[in-house]
Amino acid sequence: MVAEVLRSGWLGMGPKVSEFEHAFADYVGASHCLSANSGTAALHLAVRILDLPPGTEVITTPVTFISTNHVILYERLVPIFADVEPDTGNLDVESVRSKITEKTGAIMIMHYGGYPCELDEFYALSREHGIPIIEDCAHACGSSYKGHRIGSHDTIQAYSFDPTKNLTTGSGGAVTFSGDAYEPRLRALRYMGVDKDSFSRMNQGETGYSWEYAVNEIGFRYHMNDIAAALGLAQLKRLAADNQRRAGIADLYSAALANVPGLTLLRRDKDRVSANFLYAVLADDRDGLIRKLSENGVGAAVHFKRCDAYPMYELQNLPNVELFCSQVVSLPMHPCLSDKEVAYVVRLISEGW
Ligand SMILES: Cc1ncc(COP(=O)(O)O)c(C=O)c1O
Repeated sequence: MVAEVLRSGWLGMGPKVSEFEHAFADYVGASHCLSANSGTAALHLAVRILDLPPGTEVITTPVTFISTNHVILYERLVPIFADVEPDTGNLDVESVRSKITEKTGAIMIMHYGGYPCELDEFYALSREHGIPIIEDCAHACGSSYKGHRIGSHDTIQAYSFDPTKNLTTGSGGAVTFSGDAYEPRLRALRYMGVDKDSFSRMNQGETGYSWEYAVNEIGFRYHMNDIAAALGLAQLKRLAADNQRRAGIADLYSAALANVPGLTLLRRDKDRVSANFLYAVLADDRDGLIRKLSENGVGAAVHFKRCDAYPMYELQNLPNVELFCSQVVSLPMHPCLSDKEVAYVVRLISEGW
C-alpha cells in the first residue's frame, strides 16, 4: 500500500488519508475521524476545539505521558491533577468529582495501558455538570467498554499511532468524535487554518486545479500524509490479530503471576476489554525487579513518572498516584513475543528479585 502511494505521485494529505479516516471511524464506531501527524497533535486539537478561555481548569491525570498535560498548557489552561484508582492507574471518578469547581471546563481521562476508565460514571458526571470529556486513547486502540469500542463515546477522543502503539503509522494520531459540530473547523485547524486542502482543490470542474482557499483562523501543521495513512490502513487490517495475541500474552502473565510474593496484578473487570498496550504490575522493590530482569536480558519499563513532579507543574498530594508510580512496572508486551519468551519472563519473576 505504501509503494502504491509512492507510485501514485501524491504523497501529501490526499485520498489515502481520507480512506484511513473512514476506516478508523468505522473501526471504533465514531461518526467522524480526523487524522493528525502525532497523538500529541490530536490531543492538542481535541483541547483546542472546546474553545476554553485561558485560565479554565482541566481536571486530568498525572499518571500519563506528558503530552496529555502539555496540551492543556499549550492552550494556557490550568491542569488540575486528580488521584487515580490504586488498582488500575486510571483516574478515580470520586477524586475527579471532588476537584470540580465553577472554573472547570473539561475532564481529560486516559485509559492507562489500554484498560478503559469507568466511562459510565465519567459520562454521568459529565452530564451532571455539563463538562465535556476528552479521552486520551493513546493506549486504547481496540479497547472496549461494556460492548462499545473506545472512540465511540462523547465528546472527543485522541489516539496515537506512534511506533510503539498497537496501530502505527510511523508517527501519527487521530481524533474521533460524533456529530457534525466540530467539522469543518477541526479539519481546518489541523492544516494551518486552510479551509480547502490541496487535494480537494484538484479536479475542480473545467479549471482543474483551484488555487483559491480561505484562512479564517490560525491553525497548525498537524495533518497526516498519504504515506503514513497507507501504513495505517495496512496496520488496521492486522490490528484485531495483534490485539488478540496481546490478550493471549496478558492471560499468560495473569495466570502465572497471580500469587508471586511482592507482586500485585492490576484489576481486570469482565465488562471491558483492554487493548493491552501495556502489561503493568505493581512490585515491592520495583527497581530490584527491573534490575533482575535487565541482568537477564529482559527490558522492563516504567509508565509513568508522575507528571505533576515535572517543573512546569505543581506537585500534589495524591496518595494513590504516589504509591502507583513508585511500584508500577511494565513487563514486555508486544504481539511478536513468543510463549517461550513469556515463560522466561515469568520464571525470572517467580524466582523473586
Ligand atoms: C498516554 C499518551 N498520550 C499521548 C501520547 C502522545 O502520542 P504521540 O507520541 O503520538 O505524540 C502518548 C505517547 O506516546 C501517550 O502514551
